[in-house]
Amino acid sequence: MIDEQKPSVAHGDGIESYLVEPGSSLAGEITVPGDKSISHRSLMFGAIADGITEIDGLLASEDCLATAAALTAMGAKIEAPETPGDCWRVHGVGLRGLKRPPGDLDLGNSGTSMRLLTGLLCAQGFSSTLVGDSSLMTRPMERVAVPLRQMGARIKTSDGRPPVMIERSQGLVGIDYQAPVASAQIKSAILLAGLYAKGVTRVTEPGVSRDHTERMLASFGVTVVRKGMSVEIEAPGALKAHRIAVPGDLSSAAFFIVGACLTSDKGVTLRSVGVNPTRTGVIEILRKMGAKIDVATAPTAKGGEPVADIRIAKSRLKGINIDASDVALAIDEFPVLMVAAACAEGVTRVSGAEELRVKESDRIRTVVDGLMALGAKVEEKPDGMIVTGGPLNGGEVDSHGDHRIAMAFTIAALMAGGPVRILNTRNVATSFPGFAEHGARLGMTINKETIS
Ligand code: S3P
Repeated sequence: MIDEQKPSVAHGDGIESYLVEPGSSLAGEITVPGDKSISHRSLMFGAIADGITEIDGLLASEDCLATAAALTAMGAKIEAPETPGDCWRVHGVGLRGLKRPPGDLDLGNSGTSMRLLTGLLCAQGFSSTLVGDSSLMTRPMERVAVPLRQMGARIKTSDGRPPVMIERSQGLVGIDYQAPVASAQIKSAILLAGLYAKGVTRVTEPGVSRDHTERMLASFGVTVVRKGMSVEIEAPGALKAHRIAVPGDLSSAAFFIVGACLTSDKGVTLRSVGVNPTRTGVIEILRKMGAKIDVATAPTAKGGEPVADIRIAKSRLKGINIDASDVALAIDEFPVLMVAAACAEGVTRVSGAEELRVKESDRIRTVVDGLMALGAKVEEKPDGMIVTGGPLNGGEVDSHGDHRIAMAFTIAALMAGGPVRILNTRNVATSFPGFAEHGARLGMTINKETIS
């Protein structure tokens, strides 16, 4: 059974929207903001490290600021840069230094904050409660609560969803956990708890998920052992603060990569983007579709993440089959990949992608609805969709408050037969503040509106 889609989200005086004009040919060079996953982790690990962690290029989006606010409420001092371009500074309180927060921790729209902090907080000597916005309050949390309870944590959810109520820890023990889905959030929550557990904590996944936690823990001096699909740690004495450089977010770059593939006669260059191989599925999938994407590797960023300049030229895309093995490596890029599929020649079949149903919206449903609203031929499947390429019409698409749906359909508008209005764009700020301005720099016409 597929749940009804969440309702439109109205904030304050009206619904924020974009009115996007079709027909632009993207051109130029931009640097996208910092990686969201790496930014969350640098704040969390910095907060429990010994010493001051300096972070260059931190993503100051609403999701990451929610993580920062939660850590601040628990006694970590986090300093934003005084002049733009300077580093953030996290004054670590040490592994045992966090304090009971004065109230519930509100994590807004951020699933990563809630799941990873559940792992961290279930090991603390105080109780805490995690809440979020109307979208986050409907998202599944037992996927992290179940393994953490096996470690000895005392966690309650409400029918599997937030609020997540965490009781004071009475000590954790390491487990050997076979995760049912490839999910970096599950893996990271367990590893965070493992920093405090007795014995070895091991997670084995059925597929590859992003490995930023493993890389960053190692950069903080923790011994991380990787064997095949498993990763294991033992509680360290301390995490050692250091300087981290956060590369540009490939998930944000993906919107302009697809936009450039579809329209760019002169070419687009995206500077200093993170190209961790556990994230580059979007590039591989687009190349299989026929995209011309050049990845020029630059020196690895401090913190152990590979970085590259990405150059994209207009390409003739064709439909392909995408199955479960491709999904985890491009999980956040499916909305915009399906836009590429709708503009490609032939049929794209996606299967094994049921995880998309539990993101900020049910992304199988919201993508299918959005493409249909623009006249595309698309069929919804329980675990994916079938998209037949063809012309798109102008029209109206509701993002249902999902940032990546809003941005994906902004890109779809480039190829539409008339203007496209995208409703509920406020949450773009959760991951990509300045998205519309970056688009404008590459030649897009995006008018911001508030509809009452
Ligand atoms: C993330 C992991 C992914 C991804 C999310 C960020 C992370 O979720 O969709 O946007 O930072 O660990 P899952 O691990 O649940 O697939």
